[in-house]
Amino acid sequence: MIKDTFTFHNGVTIPAIGFGTWQIPNEEAYDSTMMALKNGYTHIDTALAYRNEENVGKAVKDFDLPREEIFITSKLPAQIKGYQESLDAFNETITNLGVDYLDLYLIHAPWPWDKKGEDHTEGNIQSWKAMEKLYNDGKIRTIGVSNFEISDIQALLDNCDIVPMANQIPFYVGRDQEDLLAFCKEHNILVEAYSPLATGQLLDNEDIKAMADKYDVTPAQLLIRYCLERGTLPLPKSTHEERIIQNSQVDFSISEEDMATLNSFDDVRG
Ligand code: A2P
Repeated sequence: MIKDTFTFHNGVTIPAIGFGTWQIPNEEAYDSTMMALKNGYTHIDTALAYRNEENVGKAVKDFDLPREEIFITSKLPAQIKGYQESLDAFNETITNLGVDYLDLYLIHAPWPWDKKGEDHTEGNIQSWKAMEKLYNDGKIRTIGVSNFEISDIQALLDNCDIVPMANQIPFYVGRDQEDLLAFCKEHNILVEAYSPLATGQLLDNEDIKAMADKYDVTPAQLLIRYCLERGTLPLPKSTHEERIIQNSQVDFSISEEDMATLNSFDDVRG
């Protein structure tokens, strides 16, 4: 599974499961990333806002694989909107990581986190133009967005040249964002699922446990497989090696009937 790939609309491929590093502090990021790389992950997801790019980058550098065999995603901080500001933030990210190009760069959110829901369309357009320049200059192989709703993406489609290649959103059993998923599919935008385990909140659910037992897998493996069955790219996060390994071993199929059950789950957030 870990060697499978998705293909973006520009032809670039991305490993089908990524190692998420949200909430991994910089001190732990080196060991966790190294564990992921040692266990076959070649796709690492970070962000300037996670404050762990430096140690993620060190692990990538120390690991014995050529740079081009590792797929690195990072993100433009949500509060940075504007052309030059975005170019500057990108430079900070590649300096932190110690790389000279990124595989995927995302606008982290359509609004600053403390101004959720506010309209920042003009700022997003300017940031997107900066990302298009970096893409055209060969500094980034693919560009996309994160936490964008349909209207946020539509604004870029209406005002910019390049259709985003990815939208990274919270996606898990009970939060399947059907309309957004369909919109992204229609525009050939790959949906990446962050928090595929609902940040851990679904792992003790009795129905999930019972279904996982049926397939002889763990709840985490069932939840990760669910994302893949829905055509999304899961980004599970863990700092424990046995879990990091487990989260990449999801080579089984969920029956149509069980998918229907999972699709009808209520959101764990209530
Ligand atoms: P830890 O990092 O201590 O292993 P998400 O990917 O949805 O954000 O969920 C991450 C949470 O799920 C973290 O608390 C992580 O804990 C936990 N987790 C990740 N993988 C597993 C697993 N295979 N089994 C149990 N818990 C897991």
